[in-house]
Amino acid sequence: MNHKKIRQIFLSFFKRKKHKILNSASIVAKKDYSLMFTNAGMNIFKDFFLGKKKSQDSRIANFQKCLRITGKHNDLFEVGKDTYHHTMFEMLGNWSFGDYFKKESIKWAWELLTEVYKIDKSNIYVTIFKGNKEDKLSFDRESFKYWNKKIDDSKILLFDKKHNFWEMGTTGPCGTCTEIHVDLRNEKEKFKIPGNNLVNKKHPLVIELWNIVFIQFFRKSDGTLVKLPTFHVDTGMGFERLCMVLQKKKSTYDTDIFTDLIKYIAQHTDQIYGVTETIDLAIRIIADHMRSVVFAIYDGIIPSNNKYGYVIRKILRRIIVTYYLTLKIKKPFLFKLVKPIICYIQNSHLNKSHLKYDLSTIIYDISTMILMEEKLFLKTIKLGINKLEKIIEKLRETKCNIIDGKIRKIIYWLYDTYGLPLEISQRIIYKRIPYPMII
Ligand code: SER
Repeated sequence: MNHKKIRQIFLSFFKRKKHKILNSASIVAKKDYSLMFTNAGMNIFKDFFLGKKKSQDSRIANFQKCLRITGKHNDLFEVGKDTYHHTMFEMLGNWSFGDYFKKESIKWAWELLTEVYKIDKSNIYVTIFKGNKEDKLSFDRESFKYWNKKIDDSKILLFDKKHNFWEMGTTGPCGTCTEIHVDLRNEKEKFKIPGNNLVNKKHPLVIELWNIVFIQFFRKSDGTLVKLPTFHVDTGMGFERLCMVLQKKKSTYDTDIFTDLIKYIAQHTDQIYGVTETIDLAIRIIADHMRSVVFAIYDGIIPSNNKYGYVIRKILRRIIVTYYLTLKIKKPFLFKLVKPIICYIQNSHLNKSHLKYDLSTIIYDISTMILMEEKLFLKTIKLGINKLEKIIEKLRETKCNIIDGKIRKIIYWLYDTYGLPLEISQRIIYKRIPYPMII
């Protein structure tokens, strides 16, 4: 099943359950002052949850581009290290605004996963909220009751607020949640360690797939919870993870969402993906971050030195440092990756008439923008390294022991004054200055 079909099946399923189907909104949260980027499917519906606006449709289903690189939900440093985190990902969601609640959400989630997508029931675990004294909340008995109609109680696991109480930020709409996890290990592994011991333990093959949040409260800035007048449902299923499960892959990066992109990166950097862990890690970082950058630019952000543009520029520079240091690439190449990403974006739109510009113009404009950024930053790196080389020469000439503190000062000075990334100068300096010189 390819990724387009997987998305389509989700939306059709909820259409049959009388949901209005929506295209993804922008990845940039320009109308929400508490966020920079859309970090969950529910962001665009916040006013409905808070009762500030009324939705024309009480049931909606959509897929939403999300970016988790700032604020409460930040996955920037998880990316690459494991095989299933992303800074940019798509979230499949169904929504009830004062309409259905726990019973239907649980029933439909189970039906979709086990009867439509045909995920093996024996591989599914669910988690529910065990209660919290501080917030004066008790165990989510109702969710337990509905889950227990579908699944054995040994597979219903209780977790605390960290896992089973969802909040968008430090304030805002929130509520208890129930999560669906899938165990993708082989039978031998499952026999050795039962899956329920590995849920929420960061195992790469026992992963969270779907989060169903029951929005019932508003978290105030003093930390207290206020009950909302109407209850709502906010669900979010990681699209890349769903593809990983249905395409029987061990990593989201091996699904057809990523394969073309990874192939291009490997081709343009003369590497083979899947052989050396450090190279693979770098390739995954490039693939993930490039999607973030291109999706954000597609939605109107231009890399720059302030606000949204600055965040995107920093991500882009993180990619450049990664390819410069790990893949030893010294020439721009990221701009060549724009095409497969833009093709992906345009292919996922439900309604092609929404597309404002033609494909080749968009690819050309974004590639040019990225090429300029790469050239500029590679020049900065080159200039900084020249300075650093001269400093190293001088230090060698003096032949006296230098203390580590002095080296650190130099590294920060090169960053402050010439913009030379800390990782690059650290890597060069500690490799080049003989150990006895550093005391
Ligand atoms: N808001 C929840 C999440 O982001 C479910 O959509 O996980």
